[in-house]
Amino acid sequence: MVSTHSTGIQHSGSQYLPQRRSTDTNLSPNQELLPLTARVHNHDFLEIGGCDVTTLVQQFGSPLYILDEETLRLACQQYRDAFKQYYQGESQVLYASKAWNCLAVCAIAASEGLGIDVASGGELYTALQAGVNPDKIYLHNNNKSREELIFAIESGCTIVVDNWHELHILGEIVETTNSASAHPRLLLRLTPGIECHTHEYIRTGQLDSKFGFDPNQIEELFSFVSKQSALNCVGLHAHIGSQIFERQPHQDLAALMVEWLRSAAKYGLKLTELNVGGGLGIKYIESDDPPSIEEWVKPICEVIQEACAAENLPLPKLLSEPGRSLIATACVTAYTVGSSKVIPEIRTYVAIDGGMSDNPRPITYQSVYRAVVANKMSSPLTETVTIAGKHCESGDILIKNALLPKTEPGDILLVMGTGAYNYSMASNYNRLPRPAAVIVANGEANLILQRETYQDLIRQDCLPERLKK
Ligand code: LLP
Repeated sequence: MVSTHSTGIQHSGSQYLPQRRSTDTNLSPNQELLPLTARVHNHDFLEIGGCDVTTLVQQFGSPLYILDEETLRLACQQYRDAFKQYYQGESQVLYASKAWNCLAVCAIAASEGLGIDVASGGELYTALQAGVNPDKIYLHNNNKSREELIFAIESGCTIVVDNWHELHILGEIVETTNSASAHPRLLLRLTPGIECHTHEYIRTGQLDSKFGFDPNQIEELFSFVSKQSALNCVGLHAHIGSQIFERQPHQDLAALMVEWLRSAAKYGLKLTELNVGGGLGIKYIESDDPPSIEEWVKPICEVIQEACAAENLPLPKLLSEPGRSLIATACVTAYTVGSSKVIPEIRTYVAIDGGMSDNPRPITYQSVYRAVVANKMSSPLTETVTIAGKHCESGDILIKNALLPKTEPGDILLVMGTGAYNYSMASNYNRLPRPAAVIVANGEANLILQRETYQDLIRQDCLPERLKK
């Protein structure tokens, strides 16, 4: 049966195109399904960043992550400009690079004036190699190793301290090292005890969380830190979760963090930075309705300004750490359709050449995605099929009940909204080489991640002499 609007217009992949012009700066990327430069050419073919998707696959292979530079840059600019517009104090947006940490993405975020939030020594190394100024790098993690802490101190980035254990190790490191550079800038991460409606694995603000200092110990914490003159504590951090559509939790968080600032002041701690974390959600499917970037930023700024005025506190430098809402919509994954299996009256499986190794989100969080066929953009959506990955795992299903045109082997299936937590969580399960990634802009495509080869897969393998034939 051909799916139709009540107006009688046939549905096709084109319905997912951004509704306004790509140059419309009011278009908030996180509210769209396809990158902002997506358009259909020659009736049926999808183009992103001025590049034909099927040609990209011929050139760079399949599966392929395709990152639209314009969409990513626009999201960076919208965050940066919204804080400038609505916050009277200083502000700094940090890209939460756990969403997708690689040289090119870190370099683009930095070129837009963003700092980088890194969650490990590896992410820190990448950001530094991308040329990011360490003054704008913040290191997170609930169990940083001594080596990671020393690396952070030596590189000159700010450390977001998560717990007592880490505070004690930092004290030891600072004591045993005399140089002035050994006094790192620190933020203290507190668990805010604020609940939000998102998947339980990506909620972090509730009291029962592995992250951050227990807020019931706040007085003890501030008292301790105020006595450690060697520890250069400059501010506070909190993050309540990810893929959040409500705005109230972040407003509650902003108000609570100003209360924390006031408590710190009682201990003589002069804290000048507040970091409200990230978490703004994106539209993965038609019914998702996240606020725009501006709608998310504005009330946070207002709450902090009002609360500081009421408490007679100077405005802190305001930091935020968006990941998903900066990059998810800018990227799509192109796959090639292969085998299919029709089980009459039950289901039709259409298999593609990737799956849970390049996008582990459906199997991990039951995340839902939408797809189009990049070479059949105007064909009517006539089939409901289940998109199966190629891994030896029954749960390796990318999309259940996807509404598509009739597909055949060789078609290019394009899954939308894959810029966040796809490549960064990718694996080599079944020893599938990780796909390549290209960045597209103005009709030009450049490789940003090479496709792994079979040689890459055994690069770390060791075959002890006695096992050799
Ligand atoms: N700051 C901190 C301390 C975080 O832990 C996170 C995300 C962010 C910022 C960025 O949050 P975002 O703006 O991206 O929501 N793998 C999961 C998401 C895990 C989020 C981890 N922390 C997923 O695929 O949904």
